[in-house]
Amino acid sequence: MNTSKTTINNIQTFDHNEFVVTTSIKPRKEEVLRAISLSSELDARYVSRRSFNKYKSENHLEFYYVVEKEGLRIRWEGGEFFFHPSTSKMRMRNIRNNQRDHLIETLNLEGDEIIYDLTLGLGSEAILIAAHLTTGKVVGVEASKHIYTIVKYGLQTYNDPSPWVNESFKKIELIHSDYKSWIREQEDQSCDYCYCDPMFENPVMSSSGFNPLRPFAVYDKVSPEDIHQMKRISKKAVILKALSKDSLFSEIEVDEIRGSRTSGVLYGVIHC
Ligand SMILES: C[S@@+](CC[C@H](N)C(=O)[O-])C[C@H]1O[C@@H](n2cnc3c(N)ncnc32)[C@H](O)[C@@H]1O
Repeated sequence: MNTSKTTINNIQTFDHNEFVVTTSIKPRKEEVLRAISLSSELDARYVSRRSFNKYKSENHLEFYYVVEKEGLRIRWEGGEFFFHPSTSKMRMRNIRNNQRDHLIETLNLEGDEIIYDLTLGLGSEAILIAAHLTTGKVVGVEASKHIYTIVKYGLQTYNDPSPWVNESFKKIELIHSDYKSWIREQEDQSCDYCYCDPMFENPVMSSSGFNPLRPFAVYDKVSPEDIHQMKRISKKAVILKALSKDSLFSEIEVDEIRGSRTSGVLYGVIHC
């Protein structure tokens, strides 16, 4: 299979044009129906597993979706991308062991807040935030159609052995949109916090759980006008995440910077 790729920040990304939807080997009728329905949602071709190898040898495919009994994954030559709660579980363990979590500490949640997570990604931080909410919710916005699809499907079907994770899923609402246009449509003070964690300029490639997302991600930069809009729609604060070696906090003025100088992961807070 050939793969056509573009390079951004030294990361190879797909052009996202040539993909199909299939199932695992010997699918049940249910998986076939789900694959057909997903292919129409994604405006992509459904290829039955029986004819998949022939199709793949005769056509140029960047990657393909596989509907399985246990869930959904995207496969390509040398990689695969599927939903998992990622670092949320490790961070929750740390919090329960009285270690600091700078994001949760900064949010200081009471439980009824509405948080717009404008760069949902795998949703690990949304899951962690949602675990600290009772009546509140996280609205997660993701611009990449493929990341959105994998996470949406994951939140609906993944069953974690830790009940708090499954409970968190129920408090996350997903939106497939570019946050830059989405925030401009939201009403003044419609959320408590806007949280924005754009792709780092200097990616941490050792973050192995996160690497499969990279070829599908959107690599947008936050602009001062975006910040103006985020402030307009937030009641309490706008929180931005970046690495200490990234340029975000030299381009965007924040009121305070919190985080760990050791890990270099920083949260910039703009109070509203
Ligand atoms: C660093 S990841 C976020 C990781 C996330 N905090 C987590 O815990 O999994 C950044 C995500 O934001 C998405 N993104 C980048 N620009 C965006 C935009 N303009 N609108 C919506 N999503 C965007 C990327 O596609 C990527 O999935």
